[in-house]
Amino acid sequence: MDQEMLDTLVKELEKHRFSMGQVEGVPLPGDTCDAWDTIYNFQAREDDVLIATYPKAGTTWAQEILDLILQEGDVEKAMRAPCFMKVPFIDLVPNKIIPSGIDLANAMTSQRLIKTHLPIRLIPPSFWEKNAKVVYVARNAKDCMVSYYFFQKMNKGLPEPGTWDNYFSSFLSGEVPWGSWFDHVIGWWKARDKHQILYIFYEDMIEDPMREIRRMVKFLGKDLSEDVLETIKHHTSFQAMKNNPMTNFSVLPSVVFDQSISAFMRKGTVGDWKNHFTVAQNNVFDEEYEKKMEGQDLTFRMEL
Ligand code: A3P
Repeated sequence: MDQEMLDTLVKELEKHRFSMGQVEGVPLPGDTCDAWDTIYNFQAREDDVLIATYPKAGTTWAQEILDLILQEGDVEKAMRAPCFMKVPFIDLVPNKIIPSGIDLANAMTSQRLIKTHLPIRLIPPSFWEKNAKVVYVARNAKDCMVSYYFFQKMNKGLPEPGTWDNYFSSFLSGEVPWGSWFDHVIGWWKARDKHQILYIFYEDMIEDPMREIRRMVKFLGKDLSEDVLETIKHHTSFQAMKNNPMTNFSVLPSVVFDQSISAFMRKGTVGDWKNHFTVAQNNVFDEEYEKKMEGQDLTFRMEL
């Protein structure tokens, strides 16, 4: 990239960094709001597989596993392009460096893997009309919050998160991009039997990746050998994905993702929140959590 392109990009990013809007009360990047009609009217296909997550729940990990399942364990094929190019992110209309997710998806031949962070009530209706399959990955709120804080620090396309103390309150009240963690995980959980939705937990993937890979294989109606399953597990381990330029986002320049601030593949563990939450914050969180999750048959493990 030449200097002129970089300068343009930096200007675009500065603009984006502070531009957030709302769609039906959900905070979303300004450009996403501007393009909302196009996004909402996106045309899904019957054999699409949608990966839906609240940000930082393990989207990229699930993406890589699902892609390898569709490629029947062919690692070379899985490395054909960076993860954000091979799995279009339909709710993002980013800076000039990556084409919009909608354009990428429309240009793609089937079978497509598609990524979204949208809460279920904002999902383009064509996914339901076409009865497309959805893999939803949920991660406990405390680890999501910590991961998102570091991500917002390094991702120049999202608002600067401010201090950890401020971020803690913003996250709890849902005033972060893509809105409330609570609405997200609960909304998708309640819909899991109404559509073809496989609801997976990040903590389960950490605990026993092979078990969760098998669930995904079955959900996609595939039959893969033990050797292929082992290859998938190996290629999608934290360390393998951290070293893989197609999954670690190192192909993006630092004006987009500044990985000197925080690596995209940061820790990949359960319970890192304990290194960041104060005792007082933990009490506030637990009280709020109890209120917001009351009556839900949805439980998360905050440690293993
Ligand atoms: P941390 O910041 O806690 O390390 P997303 O892809 O939804 O943005 O989620 C990113 C989070 O998933 C990061 O969490 C990242 O390290 C973690 N992650 C990515 N690939 C992983 C893998 N193969 N194993 C475990 N965690 C992974």
